[in-house]
Amino acid sequence: MCGIVGYIGHRDAYPIVIKGLQRLEYRGYDSAGIALYDGASVNLCKTKGKVEDLKKKAKSEISLSGNLGIGHTRWATHGVPNDVNSHPHYSNSGDLVIIHNGIIENYESIKKELIKRGYTFESDTDTEVLVNLIEEVKLKENVMLGQAVQIALNEVVGAYAIAVFDKKKPDEIVVAKLGSPLAIGIGDNEFFIASDASPFIEFTNNAIYLEDEEMAIIRLGKEIKLRKIKNDAVAYPNILELQMNIEEIEKGGFDHFMLKEIYEQPRAILDTYRGRLLAKQGIVKMAGIDQHLDKFLNANRIIIVACGTSWHAGLVAEYIFENLARIPVEVEYASEFRYRNPIITENDVVIAISQSGETADTLAAIKLAKENGAFVFGVCNVVGSSIARETHAGAYTHAGPEIGVASTKAFTTQITVLTLLALKLAKEKELFTDSQFHEYLTELETIPSKVEKALESNPLIEIIADVYKDSTNCLYLGRGYNFPVALEGALKLKEISYIHAEGYPAAEMKHGPIALIDEHMPVFVIATNKGHYEKVVSNIQEIKSRKGKIIAIVTEGDVQVKELADHCIEIPETFESLTPLLTTIPLQLLSYHIAVMRNCNVDQPRNLAKSVTVE
Ligand code: M6R
Repeated sequence: MCGIVGYIGHRDAYPIVIKGLQRLEYRGYDSAGIALYDGASVNLCKTKGKVEDLKKKAKSEISLSGNLGIGHTRWATHGVPNDVNSHPHYSNSGDLVIIHNGIIENYESIKKELIKRGYTFESDTDTEVLVNLIEEVKLKENVMLGQAVQIALNEVVGAYAIAVFDKKKPDEIVVAKLGSPLAIGIGDNEFFIASDASPFIEFTNNAIYLEDEEMAIIRLGKEIKLRKIKNDAVAYPNILELQMNIEEIEKGGFDHFMLKEIYEQPRAILDTYRGRLLAKQGIVKMAGIDQHLDKFLNANRIIIVACGTSWHAGLVAEYIFENLARIPVEVEYASEFRYRNPIITENDVVIAISQSGETADTLAAIKLAKENGAFVFGVCNVVGSSIARETHAGAYTHAGPEIGVASTKAFTTQITVLTLLALKLAKEKELFTDSQFHEYLTELETIPSKVEKALESNPLIEIIADVYKDSTNCLYLGRGYNFPVALEGALKLKEISYIHAEGYPAAEMKHGPIALIDEHMPVFVIATNKGHYEKVVSNIQEIKSRKGKIIAIVTEGDVQVKELADHCIEIPETFESLTPLLTTIPLQLLSYHIAVMRNCNVDQPRNLAKSVTVE
């Protein structure tokens, strides 16, 4: 969590750092800060609140000039969000200035030692401890900043992406990474530093993503020097050419990123299967899997590990893999899996799903699976992310940057990739005839236009949202493929509108939640025409007889549910296994509109962050 940005070069650093922080605000937004070197001194400003608050404060309090700057947007771990705990932090001498994303776990013992040596601390943060440890090493060992950073980092336990500079040597920024992402943009004798490439994409397409336990000394007029933190070995920069463009990371006329990303889903799903789904030839091509097909085909089982929305996509995939490819699947919360001594064998295939590719629990689950000999396949959106690099093979979702904290297009594109994978395996196992396979691929190709159709219900959904915006509790029900969609619908509502919501398999309602139903309880029911339709209709009857309000997602042309429900939202007809790609759309829009009507911060809901890089 937290976003870091830095610049050193010939341009004014302030606008670059501020704009970069705004783009990274999805990573954390409880406080923000900036430090600029103007050629003579450091001007530092920080505040509790958003980057917008920082801008106002900085304008009135500090000089905004200088060609070197670092900035930070925070999601608090150590120390409450306030001005003092915000980054950047100075060392005691005032010479070193640092920004940090991550957690230094052994900061308390280091702090005690530093206090004994006369250091004082203003904040409650682990970061202020780190910058003073670097200073202590630098002075004691009489070494340059880069070496001091390296020695200090060998003493700390935890995770970090840091950028630090010394005001006495302002042609240089030192950066290092372990567990938190760090990208370096390379321009013409100018360098950008950021948690992801979005802050510098309009300046350069060339970037280096630091590997874990790597650090870099970025000096004007010199080549970047990369080295391993542990053993001092020289590392060679792998300069990537980025494909991202500026339009992808701006709102493009929408009020919120979340709404933009909901509307991007037809394009995103198409991009996910583009070049992979060849319906006419009856082929699914996935470069990441071809040489590892045996692993999947001989697997005892597939274990899916993920968190949050990605975990819900994993649950949908469980139905898809078992039904289409007849491979047993277990779906695990990464956070539980990593700590419960799971039984993993060399015959297991682990699929790790993550939009950001940085989720700490998912990363730890991958490492555990690898240690136990499992083959690990990643499904990530962010290219070059830690999970993409840590897994043996994988498939990107190609959804494009997802900035809204509430995941939307990540979910549907993850399901799309996993469906392609299941189809490929099913074909290899000869579980489909050629014509069935062709029919399936052709139907999958219609999904983007069917999502467009589902989006047309937006005006109706806005009206329904207005009716239920003041609810305090909601229930979401679905069965089979759409049970995970019910969970996802409830999560979307909770996280952005702060209304309590529960997702349940529809048949489980009578084992408890039915007690909650009265005239004040809205129940969102997914009741598409295939897969247990009659049974869901019975569940709807049970809700109706207890006076619950029913909002149903139905297939176009539905008659039965329409007679019972208070509101119906139609989606186009498709194969049962593909319905989650459509039923989730109205639920995303509903939570979006309810959150807007409740004046909630849709893109940056309270207490959350986009990438959860702490446990
Ligand atoms: O980046 P990841 O997919 O690994 O993130 C997992 C969860 O943190 C994420 O899905 C979270 O639950 C979202 N806020 C849901 O909208």
